[in-house]
Amino acid sequence: MKIGIFDSGLGGLTVVQAMIKSVKGAEIFYIADTKNAPYGEKTPEQILQYSLDITQYLIDLHQIDALIVACNTATSAAIQHLRICYPSLIVIGTEPGIKPAIELTTTGKVGVLATPATLKGDKYQQLTDSLSSQKDVVLFEQACPGLVEQIEKGEIHSHSTKMMLEMWLAPMRENSVDTIVLGCTHYPLVGEVIEKVMQRDLNLIHTGEAIAKRLLTLGQEKGHVNHGDLKITLYSTDAINKKIVSYILEEHTEVKQIAIQK
Ligand code: DGL
Repeated sequence: MKIGIFDSGLGGLTVVQAMIKSVKGAEIFYIADTKNAPYGEKTPEQILQYSLDITQYLIDLHQIDALIVACNTATSAAIQHLRICYPSLIVIGTEPGIKPAIELTTTGKVGVLATPATLKGDKYQQLTDSLSSQKDVVLFEQACPGLVEQIEKGEIHSHSTKMMLEMWLAPMRENSVDTIVLGCTHYPLVGEVIEKVMQRDLNLIHTGEAIAKRLLTLGQEKGHVNHGDLKITLYSTDAINKKIVSYILEEHTEVKQIAIQK
């Protein structure tokens, strides 16, 4: 199976990290669209255009069988269009794990961290409207502008990143939030810092494993045999922090820079 994956940058590698544990006999073509990052502060129209261009590139150059939108922001802006434009492609998106969070919380207080575009999107509103009636839960929603840039710069454990998180998490800490949804694929990379700032036992929810599982189900329905090596090539549309790539993936991944024509 040839799998195309994209994100605005390094965040989607947290999804790849989960896939490495279960997906075999496949080739992954990962695109980090660093030229246009961060997506979370762009308009839905811009994000849709980036997503369509990348998908077309992955189909033309790599003949992918499956596309994983490893970005909550791009999923919100583009997943419906992608499914309509490419009906024979397996298309899997990434959504904030509100449902598992509501099931896991014992205090009934759930935090949601995401990009401004994800929280403003209709998709997020529909998701929370449909789930909030299921259990009496209070959601503490927090947009984190600037956090993606910190992570891309490699400032995962820096003082400034900690200070940003201190500010955003203070209302959650004071209100006994015990479960936090990481609604951006970059945020698992600062999971440890979030745990330290919250100073309590915490459920951190991200959906990489669920995405890998869904890919295997849909792939096997189309004849994928889950056996053999997994090859990963990472392409970026501008500079990328290679240290963070190896910090996330550990094993060797080929890294190349490309231009995606409009
Ligand atoms: N990692 C992405 C997400 O899941 C996008 C972050 C950004 O570029 O703002 O939302």
